[in-house]
Amino acid sequence: MKAVVYRGPRNMQVEEVPDPVIREPRDAIIKVTSAAICGSDLHMYEGRAEIEEGRIFGHEILGVVEEIGPGVQQLQVGDRVVLPFNIACGECFNCMRQFTNACLTVNPDFAGGAYGYSMMGPYQGGQAQYVLVPYADFNALKLPGAPDDEFEDDFVLLADVFPTAHHATKLAGVKPGHSVVIFGAGPVGLLSVMSAQIRGAYEIYIVDHYAFRLEKAREMGAIPIDMNDGDPVEQIKTLRKNNELLTAYARPGEEKIADGVLSGIDAVGYQAHDFEDMSREDHTQVLQHLTDIVLPTGCLGIIGVYLPNDPGEEGDAAQGIYPLPWGMMWSKGFTVGTGQAPVRQHDLYLRDVVIGGKAKPSVIVSHHEPLDKGPEMYERFDKREEGVTKVILKPWA
Ligand SMILES: NC(=O)c1ccc[n+]([C@@H]2O[C@H](COP(=O)([O-])OP(=O)(O)OC[C@H]3O[C@@H](n4cnc5c(N)ncnc54)[C@H](O)[C@@H]3O)[C@@H](O)[C@H]2O)c1
Ligand SMILES: [Zn+2]
Ligand SMILES: [Zn+2]
Repeated sequence: MKAVVYRGPRNMQVEEVPDPVIREPRDAIIKVTSAAICGSDLHMYEGRAEIEEGRIFGHEILGVVEEIGPGVQQLQVGDRVVLPFNIACGECFNCMRQFTNACLTVNPDFAGGAYGYSMMGPYQGGQAQYVLVPYADFNALKLPGAPDDEFEDDFVLLADVFPTAHHATKLAGVKPGHSVVIFGAGPVGLLSVMSAQIRGAYEIYIVDHYAFRLEKAREMGAIPIDMNDGDPVEQIKTLRKNNELLTAYARPGEEKIADGVLSGIDAVGYQAHDFEDMSREDHTQVLQHLTDIVLPTGCLGIIGVYLPNDPGEEGDAAQGIYPLPWGMMWSKGFTVGTGQAPVRQHDLYLRDVVIGGKAKPSVIVSHHEPLDKGPEMYERFDKREEGVTKVILKPWA
């Protein structure tokens, strides 16, 4: 079969590789109809997360069951399924508690597994014509319809970015009437706007430095904050202080809530750029900004990735050790949520949100390309080229 294979930093290749074969009774093989490129793939692509050459990437996978092992009970050949990016057994202590992001049995080196990802076990990714699914009854969500119908793009986003964004809004404690700030207007940030709306947020600010991504966020109903125009925290504070609605019926002291927002989301991660010099990285810039702009008692959803090893760095940063304004974070009484999203906590509900026509996450999709264009699309998405918001690879096109 054909697959997109990692051959070193910034070097993806489309190669002919052996088809996957069923090894365990509960394995299944999926014929992939759509596989997206995630912002998380870019950390490995750029050589900033450890992964060996030869690995197939891709953990946002939609397709049809092609073959099942003798122990698979609930899936049948021909079923349409999306695969949560977490690979999990469904039976261990953490899976039983619904923390499928930290399954204890699928990865000998760490808690939690994923397709084609650094530190997440030996699994091949799904930017390929076929992919092997372990514990298939548990790791595949059944879907209605047929390949390439009107839900194809919405459904592939159920593998990762939509539930991840939804999880971010949960960690950030978004509730009806909340004010929210989202750093990063990539796919996760944009769908965090959608999820915050689903949860009833009142005002949603979103920060980035790419005009086309901010424009998309504006179309979706958020207030765009362009880092090119200066300190994003100051920009938000100014906007809020000038919002008469916030002060018109304020009790004494309540004007202080115009100083910030209640819920903060980091949809950027450790490769954050410095707003004062966009060519530089500043690993903690978003965490610092969140500490500034989130109000006392607020919640932070740190869904952007931070890793314990960064081959592109030296010193402490090479081990993911960063200086943080911890004293202020503590003094403000923040609740801080981090980590890989446990997709299974959200995907059933979001599937029905999509089928019921209550949300259309595919509004962020900008490109559908054949697998052969995978390497080129990695390059263009990595450059955050104008118009490239979310890329879906079509393995059979
Ligand atoms: N926790 C999880 O389960 C999970 C799942 C999927 C993705 N992620 C992570 O989420 C992050 C975002 O991924 P994505 O797919 O949206 O793509 P992305 O990486 O393209 O999006 C990041 C956006 O952040 C912007 N940005 C950079 N520095 C910034 C700063 N200082 N302030 C504000 N914005 C800044 C970039 O311009 C870019 O548009 C990545 O770190 C990715 O690995 C985590
Ligand atoms: Zn991802
Ligand atoms: Zn488990």
